[in-house]
Amino acid sequence: MVKNEERVGLVVGLGANGEGVIKQDGTIIFVPFALVGEKIRFKVLKVTSKCAYGKVLEVLTPAEMRIRPDCPVFGKCGGCQLQHVKYINQLKIKEDTITTCFKKIAALNVEVKPTVKGDNCFRYRNKLQLPVVDSPKGTLIGFYAENSHRVVPIDDCLINALWTESIIKAFKQFVEELDIRGYNEQTNSGELREITVKEIKGNLIITAVVLSENLRGLKRLIEILKEHVKYKFSFYLNVNDKATNVIYGTKFIHVCGPKEFLGDMLGVKYKSGVQSFMQVNNSVCSKLYSTVRDIVDADNQTVVIDAYSGAGLMTALISKNAKKAFGIEIVAEAVECANALAIQNGLQNKITNYLGKCEDLLPGIIEKERKENSKICVVLDPPRKGCDIKVIDAIIKSGADKVVYVSCKPSTLARDVGLLVGSLEVINGEIKKSENYEPRYSIELVRPFDMFAQTKHVETLVLLQKIR
Ligand SMILES: C[S@@+](CC[C@H](N)C(=O)[O-])C[C@H]1O[C@@H](n2cnc3c(N)ncnc32)[C@H](O)[C@@H]1O
Repeated sequence: MVKNEERVGLVVGLGANGEGVIKQDGTIIFVPFALVGEKIRFKVLKVTSKCAYGKVLEVLTPAEMRIRPDCPVFGKCGGCQLQHVKYINQLKIKEDTITTCFKKIAALNVEVKPTVKGDNCFRYRNKLQLPVVDSPKGTLIGFYAENSHRVVPIDDCLINALWTESIIKAFKQFVEELDIRGYNEQTNSGELREITVKEIKGNLIITAVVLSENLRGLKRLIEILKEHVKYKFSFYLNVNDKATNVIYGTKFIHVCGPKEFLGDMLGVKYKSGVQSFMQVNNSVCSKLYSTVRDIVDADNQTVVIDAYSGAGLMTALISKNAKKAFGIEIVAEAVECANALAIQNGLQNKITNYLGKCEDLLPGIIEKERKENSKICVVLDPPRKGCDIKVIDAIIKSGADKVVYVSCKPSTLARDVGLLVGSLEVINGEIKKSENYEPRYSIELVRPFDMFAQTKHVETLVLLQKIR
């Protein structure tokens, strides 16, 4: 098999990123947007010692699940990977991905329950993040193409909320009127590098990430936003002059509008600020959090530790019948919001929020609570990279009675659950499959939640119960 060769093949499986898998000449070829059962004509783009990558040239026999995507930039922009698949089949693909990750990564056979769906599989996102780049064609606003820093210009996004089009229109007008330069990552120069928006109950927090705090035409930008955006909004500048992929710099400048907005979910009132983490899909989030609350099912003997607690919404929900609850979170503004939330909901005597890293704080908290003979339930909701090994070790050492794991990445979820259960172990710094092991935890539930419809991503909830 050589690069640029054109071939015909049958798609026999699915890769972890939703791509089609073809096996030919002893090589596995990953072909994005090809579906299981399809015969396709494809071009070989890259061959490595382990596998090859291809691109669909023509679908010769389309699968029954294939549909025509509505988005004009689907396949070009890297946001969605599954818009060409019937929704019911998208769910099946994600369930299969989770099963495969548990099997291949952690040698665990798990029963994956049917996915919990949201109210809408389009227009569900409450959060937008748009890179603004300098290009030979001028300043471009859009989304990155898959695995690249090339921006595909867009006017709207079908999975984002309805306000998206007006935000893009306003920023495009601003860029044109004032000839604002987008970010050039080669020279680390430009004026505007990113636009972010989050919605809290119909109110928007809009942030322009800029290279210098004196953005030209700032007053005019606010006027244009007011002309186009029919929502109440607040506006921030964030200054980021570093050559980095991290979106925000450390300095936020509040320009106008309320600094935080109030929301409520499942009876808990909360404040959300510019930096606090927020789940992207409200209807799925509410279903997920109510399931977490029900399976945590804390009693007055139980201490609940919400590791990676964000703005503290889940901590409040799971604390209600518990002896006490702890939140651990690395972002200071989120901890401030979590403290305000505890007070606002009359839970300040029950909840303690810690600012810091779970890997540094969790071991000490668990040890102290164990000495007081509390039952312990740990809720984990880490970012995509999963938990630090110190977090896993502390849970294993304490023999926490229950672990509830909320994950947005099946592969790191499978790895961490394998380590907790015992099917995986760390030997000389490397994760290996255990030969013979007595499981420490039983896997009581694996339930996907379709937080990210039309994309390859999925949120998964796992419940582990200590085996006595
Ligand atoms: C997936 S979010 C979950 C937030 C929260 N549970 C929720 O549902 O809104 C992960 C959170 O972990 C925080 N975080 C990331 N690394 C961390 C670490 N090492 N220690 C503590 N918090 C961390 C992030 O700031 C973020 O708020």
